[in-house]
Amino acid sequence: MYKKILLSFTLIATVALVTSLSTRSNQAKIDQIDPNTYSIEQVLNMLGEEPMIHSIPQVDLAKAKVGEDLIFKGYTVRDGKKSKRISNYFVCTDCHNMTSEFADISSQDASERLHYAKENGLPFLPGSTLWGIYNRTSFYNDDYVRKYGDLVTNARDTLANAVQLCSKYCASGRYIEDWELESIMHYFKKNELHVSDINIPDKDKYALINGTLTEDQKVNLAKSIKEAYVQGYGATFLETMPRNERPYGKGGNVGNGKLIYEKACMFCHENKRVTYLHLDDGKLSARFLWRNRKKYTDQSIYQIVRHGTYSKVGRKQYMPHFTKEKMSDAQLNDLVAYIKQIAKR
Ligand code: HEC
Ligand code: HEC
Repeated sequence: MYKKILLSFTLIATVALVTSLSTRSNQAKIDQIDPNTYSIEQVLNMLGEEPMIHSIPQVDLAKAKVGEDLIFKGYTVRDGKKSKRISNYFVCTDCHNMTSEFADISSQDASERLHYAKENGLPFLPGSTLWGIYNRTSFYNDDYVRKYGDLVTNARDTLANAVQLCSKYCASGRYIEDWELESIMHYFKKNELHVSDINIPDKDKYALINGTLTEDQKVNLAKSIKEAYVQGYGATFLETMPRNERPYGKGGNVGNGKLIYEKACMFCHENKRVTYLHLDDGKLSARFLWRNRKKYTDQSIYQIVRHGTYSKVGRKQYMPHFTKEKMSDAQLNDLVAYIKQIAKR
């Protein structure tokens, strides 16, 4: 009798254990399909969007590695030999970050960008990040047509052409060869956006993979996914502020100014890294910039930030200007407030 009870008890326990194990493994199967791991390209295709012009079905990691070399170092090593540099003056990372620049990647707000740069130890650069550029649809937007004219026409909607334009003109280099371009595109593909990078409700993420959406719902979801990150970075060129309107740091935030100075100006100018002009956080540099603040020349911070300089024959290194999106007028004032404080120390 006692044995019988024990036996049936063991039986029940075993059944319970087996059931619980098998539900767990079912659960594990569901968990494995995590919509966050899907690429944005993949989900937009699932939702019926047209494929992108530069679509690459499968990343080739060896090519992506070559692309990484070209972007970070300007050359790679092929058959034991150093390849020809893209530019003698710059590498891509002098002007572009290769990581996210915003906590919320639908934002283009300059102060959020600075805050994120501070939190993540990034430089604060005149070019947009190339991270996630694989998923963008528009390049050299808005006012860039004023700087590069007809060259922009073919670069606006075609990433490969945008890379060529930048390699030759922004980087003061050359048009790159097919193998170089292909490698850079694979690097971009490797750093494409995923569902985990965008901010949409979990229920929408799961709806994606459950396959229960109506055609209308698909269209709407594709739209909200595309709104959850920047499709093309805005670019507003500002004029040099008239002398009598310049606030000269009045009311500016010195802390932000220091950040901008260190993460933008010193990134290129410290120890004359890409230019003849050395700038550091000492008095001498600050006095130079403060002294010239009222001018309309390249030495004036109000002029240089908005216009940069131009590369010319014999002097190809130049300073790219900051658009309003990359440095707001308020940030410029913060920068001047900091320079004033150091200069007057
Ligand atoms: C001296 C600065 C500088 C260097 C060096 C540079 N770029 Fe750029 N690049 C810019 C600026 C400024 C823009 C203007 C648009 C923007 O990024 O928002 C730009 C735009 C681009 C764009 C279009 C981005 C967009 O969203 O509009 C691509 C792609 C690009 N660059 C790729 C490269 C690559 C690849 C290299 C290296 C071979 C490179 N750039 C080197 C300054 C630079
Ligand atoms: C992407 C690199 C880069 C960044 C960022 C940058 N500069 Fe420059 N800057 C240059 C280059 C290159 C020149 C051209 C000078 C040359 O011919 O060597 C230049 C020129 C200048 C000049 C003019 C020098 C002259 O005598 O004509 C000033 C002033 C200047 N920069 C200040 C700044 C300040 C202030 C900042 C921060 C807001 C800044 N720069 C950010 C690269 C940069």
